[in-house]
Amino acid sequence: DIRRVSVPDIRARKGGEPIVALTAYHAHMARLVDPHCDILLVGDSLGMVAQGLESTVPVTLDLMILQGQAVVRGSRRALVAVDLPFGSYEESPEAAFRTAARVLKETGCTAVKLEGGVGMAETIRFLVARGVPVIGHVGLTPQAINQLGSFRARGRDEAERQLIAADARAVAEAGAFCVVIEAVAEPLAADITRALAVPTIGIGASAACDGQILVLEDMLGLSERVPRFVKRYAELGRAVGEAVGSYAAEVRARAFPSAAHTYGGPRPSGPEQGL
Ligand code: KIV
Ligand code: NA
Repeated sequence: DIRRVSVPDIRARKGGEPIVALTAYHAHMARLVDPHCDILLVGDSLGMVAQGLESTVPVTLDLMILQGQAVVRGSRRALVAVDLPFGSYEESPEAAFRTAARVLKETGCTAVKLEGGVGMAETIRFLVARGVPVIGHVGLTPQAINQLGSFRARGRDEAERQLIAADARAVAEAGAFCVVIEAVAEPLAADITRALAVPTIGIGASAACDGQILVLEDMLGLSERVPRFVKRYAELGRAVGEAVGSYAAEVRARAFPSAAHTYGGPRPSGPEQGL
């Protein structure tokens, strides 16, 4: 039985070998990504990526738990963390604990992530003291879209940079075992990384961060539009279009299924054998 990456393992990576993290929402993708990653995040970005929502605000706790279960089942090595969705934790430390306890008990994941800085420090301290490992998330916090007005990068003026740095310090001092820094000016992310005792995980941040995370569908080329900070490592969207186009043409031409893909014809050989 392979032991999963643990919270102390991640903490120990401060200033060391970079932490590799990706989002995952489904068992099949978790299985493919798990061997390469230290952390799989069941991000609430799934609302926008997989459900067609315009923001993460409507994402429900029940949905996060269902997808969290799928990712835990599909993986065995990486630490699985699940985002607490908007409205499920902000009201009080007690509400956050009830939510986090449901997530840990019902999914079997190791940690939760929640957005916010100084204002969430008390909640993070409350959770950590009660056995809930927490990943912080500062800079661009998409659940605050209604207040922010856009998903543009943060930390472009000195006042905003001071606030973001204070947020990062507050969540780290409250006991978060690592901190996601999203869409901030590069030097700020590097400064925060130097200032914190726990690892930072950048997304649109800096190569100096202690690790990196991207939304899997974005880096695979499955998303229609992606932020500037995304590097597309594959063009799976194009591959899907080509595969489905071939299938559609063969169905219309009655070229599929051929004898090899029907019962009673010649015995199939190859990967379909026995199915
Ligand atoms: O929801 C998400 O995918 C995230 C990461 C991109 C950090 O919060
Ligand atoms: Na998120």
